[in-house]
Amino acid sequence: MGKGSRSKGCCGWIIVICIAALVVTAVVLYLKSKQHHHSSATKPGSIDKNYAQALSISMQFFDVQKSGKLKNNKIAWRGDSALSDGKGANLDLSKGMYDAGDHMKFGFPMAFSATVLSWAILEYGDQMASIKELDHAQESLKWITDYLVNAHPSKNVLYVQVGDPVIDHKCWERPEDMTENRPLTQVNKTSPGTEVAAETAAALAAASLVFKSSDSSYSDLLLKHSRQLFTFADTYRGSYSKSIPEVQSYYNSTGYEDELLWAAAWLFHATGDGSYMTYVTTENGKAFADWGRPTWFSWDDKRAGTQVLLSRTSFFNTKLSSKAENVGLQKYKETADAIMCGLLPKSPTATTSRTSGGLVWIDEWSALQHPISASFLALVYSDYLLTSQTKSFTCNGESFTTHDLRNFAIEQADYILGKNPMKLSYLIGYGSKYPTQVHHRGASIPKDANTGCKGFEWLNSDAPNPNVAVGAVVGGPFKNDSYIDRRTNIMQAEPSTYTSSAMVGLLSGLVTTSSVPRTFS
Ligand SMILES: *[C@@H]1O[C@H](CO)[C@@H](O)[C@H](O)[C@H]1NC(C)=O
Ligand SMILES: *[C@@H]1O[C@H](CO)[C@@H](O)[C@H](O)[C@H]1NC(C)=O
Ligand SMILES: *[C@@H]1O[C@H](CO)[C@@H](O)[C@H](O)[C@H]1NC(C)=O
Repeated sequence: MGKGSRSKGCCGWIIVICIAALVVTAVVLYLKSKQHHHSSATKPGSIDKNYAQALSISMQFFDVQKSGKLKNNKIAWRGDSALSDGKGANLDLSKGMYDAGDHMKFGFPMAFSATVLSWAILEYGDQMASIKELDHAQESLKWITDYLVNAHPSKNVLYVQVGDPVIDHKCWERPEDMTENRPLTQVNKTSPGTEVAAETAAALAAASLVFKSSDSSYSDLLLKHSRQLFTFADTYRGSYSKSIPEVQSYYNSTGYEDELLWAAAWLFHATGDGSYMTYVTTENGKAFADWGRPTWFSWDDKRAGTQVLLSRTSFFNTKLSSKAENVGLQKYKETADAIMCGLLPKSPTATTSRTSGGLVWIDEWSALQHPISASFLALVYSDYLLTSQTKSFTCNGESFTTHDLRNFAIEQADYILGKNPMKLSYLIGYGSKYPTQVHHRGASIPKDANTGCKGFEWLNSDAPNPNVAVGAVVGGPFKNDSYIDRRTNIMQAEPSTYTSSAMVGLLSGLVTTSSVPRTFS
């Protein structure tokens, strides 16, 4: 062997070593990436202390809002209330939750709160469990679903309201001291309420999944009511805003079509029954889903939620049997992409409805409802992409990733928790500075004040609330990022149960590095 061949041999060895090194590196990287996916798809990573604390606080608002005979009550200034609700119809409607700062039980937003809370538990139950809040969330949910089941005494009758807002609003008192009449309002075959019946069906279907493994007979009961309510809603189509015009002043519904799809989508997930998938993907989808057009998710409008929930099926499930259904399903997914594109600030189709502090801002009433709900959807969608190992999605040809969606949700959450021009946390009880005059009767009146119905001096007082409505998310800032901390400033200062449900969803998704289960059952 001459010099040449030796050096050639040496060079050959170097190549072999280099290739071997490359192969080893590639294998290690591959395994690492696998491991990463594996661990992130099965159990949550390290806990973010701030979001964990915010989540625990947020969850307490459900305890603040509870009606009925309380169990293990942890809110010192709350007690039993409304124990006779439902008596007029021989029903026990004592449970459930007060809607906001007053003592009405409005079925339409209450059911929506339960649907969203169920969804949060289904996607992020592991994250809740990692900070020992899962039982709390399930117990809060059951407080509403127990009420909803009792409010549905026969197939085609659903009680949708306890209390008369006109009578209720003439009083300012603690719920524990209420003595005024609390009439019941129902929808039925002759006075239908498709949106409220369908939303209740959605809530009970979603909750049936939550309780499936822990309490299968309760889960079955919820599902039975859900199916019946969906049939009632779909068979006797009509808006409760038309049947009972009085509701227009409070929770006016702009249409029931979205709730029919939303309910059917949840029933599909809860039962696996293909007829519900056919329902949403074929004629009803074409007629009602507003494919291609982004919308805002709220107690009145479930389209965006439905687009995202049904995308779950295209991300994780095998193909559906029929071509028409696959086409419909794809349209939901494309619309969900369009919704996400609207949220991302750098997307070519980004919404311009933002404050200069960066908050998505759609409505001056309960301004925070929209950024919170939109961020919850963004987080869920981002985790669908992550869990299904979908690298990106496009907005008018530009590519975006799960990180962009998660960052959007983080920015909105951080704004709400105090990173805003007011340096104010809009979550009551969180951080060093938060509103002191939340528009909330129970929080505004000292426990021992005997006001009777007319405790209005506590509404009009300029002193901070004597009780902290812990976990409340107030209505939120103006478009100019400012906030006026006055109890009479209802538009900004009133919290709601449905905003808290979405907040719980958002924070649960942020507690740890995230992923979602591939299937609910
Ligand atoms: C059906 O509901 C309407 C609206 O709430 C109510 O006025 C009517 O009395 C109900 N019908 C029956 C038979 O109870
Ligand atoms: C309630 O919504 C319907 C449908 O969008 C609308 O026509 C009606 O004017 C609304 N009512 C009130 C009081 O805003
Ligand atoms: C912000 O907007 C609100 C509502 O439009 C207005 O009342 C308030 O004066 C504005 N505040 C500032 C600081 O501009």
